[in-house]
Amino acid sequence: MRVLGIESTCDETAAAVVETDENGRPHILSNAVLSQIAQHAAYGGVVPEIAARAHVEVIDHLVARALDEAGVTFDELDAVAAAAGPGLIGGVIVGLTTAKALALVTGKPFIAINHLEAHALTPRLTDSVNFPYLLLLVSGGHTQLVAVRGVGDYVRLGTTIDDAIGEAFDKTAKMLGLPYPGGPEVEKQALRGNPERFALPRPLNGRAAPDFSLSGLKTAVRVEGERVSPLSATDIADLCASFQAAVVDVIVDRTRAGLRAFREVAARPNALVVAGGVAANGAIRAALHQLATESGLKLVTPPPALCTDNGAMIAWAGLERLRLGVTDDLSAPARARWPL
Ligand code: KG4
Ligand code: ZN
Repeated sequence: MRVLGIESTCDETAAAVVETDENGRPHILSNAVLSQIAQHAAYGGVVPEIAARAHVEVIDHLVARALDEAGVTFDELDAVAAAAGPGLIGGVIVGLTTAKALALVTGKPFIAINHLEAHALTPRLTDSVNFPYLLLLVSGGHTQLVAVRGVGDYVRLGTTIDDAIGEAFDKTAKMLGLPYPGGPEVEKQALRGNPERFALPRPLNGRAAPDFSLSGLKTAVRVEGERVSPLSATDIADLCASFQAAVVDVIVDRTRAGLRAFREVAARPNALVVAGGVAANGAIRAALHQLATESGLKLVTPPPALCTDNGAMIAWAGLERLRLGVTDDLSAPARARWPL
């Protein structure tokens, strides 16, 4: 089986072809991604109107490239899948409409994918992880702990009540005058800073419900920054290190709560999976590795290119659905909000 997947919910336009062999094992035939980061950098964040326009400009070309690199024609596809949300609605419409048009013209089945579901199923593409498993999804737009029990069978155990973790990194970076996207910059600064210089809060730590709250932490960084202003290079590095140390503590404590909550909804997890752009952070990975080892679990971190937004994860989610006989009607709506 061979599926074309299209992704356009945020600031990456992506198209990919994934196939399964006779043993059901997946192979990524192509994975074309164009990031819009440069177009949004001047604004310190993603501008929805610029994003939608940029998707329109490149999507046809990108689909052609994905097919070309895979060495397949439209005729050799078994279905066309697209992310139908959640995300910035203008962008979602671009990818969804493209996929529907291709499905209609080629007479192939169409599959509408929940972007979060695609992140949730990625470890089965990269590491053949069996259900059930605990997913920690941490990106610029999402912060969730999800019990993944089967295709289409997800229990959201916890989420953020305010900012996403990646957003907290980006806003902290902006406050300190560091460029966008802020996560990698904060991590770089933190390497040479003192994580104990500023006493920052660990919001919600100790609570049973595995939810997150980041806005108080971000405010605390601002208050501390104003207190020592004007900021020297050392102050900035120390603030970054103190912020990152707080985020690491929060993630470990909240994931531990997620593992406890998991027991109420599923059998023992086969793995702890971390996905999303923030999973690229070395300190966060190291701390989660330790937590997984303590808990007797395997830690699965898909490679960065498949952790951040991409077309292969959409094609793969499409394949998982297609082989269960699940396809969608061309009337499937684009959805700005679509909880798992
Ligand atoms: O998954 P992603 O590429 O896009 C979505 O938001 O869906 O995640 C991007 C986010 C940004 O907020 C970025 O600052 C953050 O991931 N990020 C990091 C690191 N690399 C990227 N955060 C912390 N440390 C990093 N090394
Ligand atoms: Zn995403």
